[in-house]
Amino acid sequence: MNAASLAKTLVVELDGRVIGDLMLQVEDGWAQAEVADQARGVHAELGWVLHPGHAGHGYATEAVRELVRICFEDLRLRRVTANCFADNVASWRLMERIGMRREVHTVRESLHRSGEWLDGMGYALLAEEWAAPASTRG
Ligand SMILES: CC(C)(COP(=O)(O)OP(=O)(O)OC[C@H]1O[C@@H](n2cnc3c(N)ncnc32)[C@H](O)[C@@H]1OP(=O)(O)O)[C@@H](O)C(=O)NCCC(=O)NCCS
Repeated sequence: MNAASLAKTLVVELDGRVIGDLMLQVEDGWAQAEVADQARGVHAELGWVLHPGHAGHGYATEAVRELVRICFEDLRLRRVTANCFADNVASWRLMERIGMRREVHTVRESLHRSGEWLDGMGYALLAEEWAAPASTRG
């Protein structure tokens, strides 16, 4: 891992051992030129990977939920997003479990390391959606 990616990486520990990592990349929101200052550093893209030996216990869900809390409560961001291949069911199920909303299903837009262009999924969550009681979420 290079220094640039380490700066946006958090590790997931279980009993003192690293079992996964999270990415937190703060970004600017899209804005018209007159208001661009107000959109600086207000969004974040998130990512995650869990050691397969620790899958299926909810550890990634717990870690990503805490990452989202950090984004909204501590960093006061207004929107977080995450992307995955459409066939990455474990990943988009995790996003839905923590209340993220599916916004896009892209068609053959993401290049897999196999060389194949695959469909993608894009999810998002706004601060006000996260703060809303679970019973009022979609
Ligand atoms: C995406 C990834 C982190 C998901 O791993 P995971 O083990 O499914 O996620 P969790 O650790 O949150 O576990 C959730 C599973 O444990 C189950 N579980 C058991 N106890 C649980 C608990 N207390 N809380 C939540 N889930 C629990 C859930 O039901 C779920 O299983 P299901 O999907 O079959 O219903 C993992 O597949 C991965 O690292 N993939 C490779 C990297 C990747 O694709 N990253 C995404 C690109 S951003």
